[in-house]
Amino acid sequence: MIKYAILGFGVVGTGLAEVMADQRKKLSAAAGQAMELGYILVRHDYPDSPWRDKLTQDFSLIENDPDVAVVAEVIGGCGAAYEYSRRAILAGKSVVSSNKELVAVHGAELAALAREKGVSYLFEGSVGGGIPLLRPLCRCLAANRIDEVYGILNGTTNYILTAMAREGQDFQTALKAAQALGYAEADPTADVEGIDACRKTAILADLSFGYNIDPAAILTTGITAVAPDDLELAQSLGYAVKLLGRAARTETGCCAFVEPHLVPASHILASVNGVMNACAIRGSAVGEVVLCGPGAGSHPTASAVAGDIADAVRHRADPQVPDLGAPGGVLAPAAALASPWYVRADGAPDRVLAAFPQARPVYGSSGECGFVTEPMTRPALEERCKALDVRAFYRVLA
Ligand code: HSE
Repeated sequence: MIKYAILGFGVVGTGLAEVMADQRKKLSAAAGQAMELGYILVRHDYPDSPWRDKLTQDFSLIENDPDVAVVAEVIGGCGAAYEYSRRAILAGKSVVSSNKELVAVHGAELAALAREKGVSYLFEGSVGGGIPLLRPLCRCLAANRIDEVYGILNGTTNYILTAMAREGQDFQTALKAAQALGYAEADPTADVEGIDACRKTAILADLSFGYNIDPAAILTTGITAVAPDDLELAQSLGYAVKLLGRAARTETGCCAFVEPHLVPASHILASVNGVMNACAIRGSAVGEVVLCGPGAGSHPTASAVAGDIADAVRHRADPQVPDLGAPGGVLAPAAALASPWYVRADGAPDRVLAAFPQARPVYGSSGECGFVTEPMTRPALEERCKALDVRAFYRVLA
């Protein structure tokens, strides 16, 4: 009997134990042999837990148990999660993870170590929560040169923007609800400032373009400055506001950034609401594919991690390690990428039209105006905006 261990007993760890127990037979069939939960690594006692006899605070028990073939790291962060992942791989165990921070920052190093030790390193749950996304990208679309990946990659911010737009909720109320539903990170700053989406964008770029991108180099803007006025004006102009992570192939590397965008109401991403995520992949043979599903939450994320556990067991003789790319490749400055822009300004129509003659401004309940420009780079936009009292500007997905 093959054993697996779960490191971490938070939202995802609890869900993983539940999903693995619920679908034990089916997962064992997928793995090709029976699997049994060996340990759950915890930081505290849980005397009332149905898994209390599996709980341990001692990682060395897992590390030294030869029957444990797979370790699921769902701790999060780059501290203990990194140390235990490394030690598990060095002990000859496959590691699966939903930890986007760890995969974005140390994934290439852990993947190289896994290859050296002949074990799998899988991280389907690290991007898009429960959406089967990384396997389709790497395997089903192997016949494609991937030219662009972009999408809604954070459930918390999409939940907040949806609640603000649909129900007129304020930012804090919507954030609290997302936290209560188990969508947000331990520190929600990573969600609302776009850092979580940035890590996921880095992983998608790594897998798509072959360069291991430093997430810290990705220009990242979150949603904290998105005002109710923006949601109202965007709607009047025929758009939805979405936080998008985008990465596109360039001649010498790629261009990657995370920013709030105005998405045309007719675009498929505009109707992706609440905790749902969606990722568009543009490939040379297939054209554009959009994968959509729950991007956060206990069981959806556990679904992806459980699939990885079964896959790692099935492929013990043929370890699976996605290619997170090699260092190199130029990260092109996002500012140079021309696009239409949405501008919110406090301005009389004649001033707006003097600066942007093609604009068709609309006015919101607070009296501010919003309009969409023709395509231009960010520096060109900033130059044209000098004559206006600009409150906000965001890219428009063209
Ligand atoms: N906090 C993340 C989100 C969890 O809201 O998308 C899933 O990665």
